[in-house]
Amino acid sequence: MKIALGCDHGGLNLKKEIIKHLESKNIEVKDFGTYTEESCDYPVYALKVAEEVVAKNFELGILICGTGIGVSISANKVPGIRAALCSDTFSAHATREHNNANILALGARVVGTGLALDIVDTFLNAKFQGDRHQRRIDKIADIEKKYSK
Ligand code: RB5
Repeated sequence: MKIALGCDHGGLNLKKEIIKHLESKNIEVKDFGTYTEESCDYPVYALKVAEEVVAKNFELGILICGTGIGVSISANKVPGIRAALCSDTFSAHATREHNNANILALGARVVGTGLALDIVDTFLNAKFQGDRHQRRIDKIADIEKKYSK
């Protein structure tokens, strides 16, 4: 499994912890920035990761900012992205099982490192359940098509 990661300055420290955690499990990761604590704009990094995931260069993405909201709103503008902001493990597996979420968004100022790592593990280990959930995802894609120019 290959995971693309990105963050803004608010998510930098948590991203480093997540990378260390995933590498310790021999999960392949690529870090698309930001790499410093200098203030930056979260849509830049959300777009990079979202484009990599939509291009299928990576199975899943993880994006982190202060709240997780900015990166999730940004990533969800890319057709084919279903980014889910999760602050609990129930949402983390339910969004893979039901929404086939392909990006996990986390708020570094919302969840502690221990919970964040559990959320990451739960998200990566859960499987999409298909069936009626696929029908609903197809309807999300219809909305994207309706508003794409
Ligand atoms: C940066 O200060 C902060 O606005 C950002 O990390 C994020 O929380 C935005 O949604």
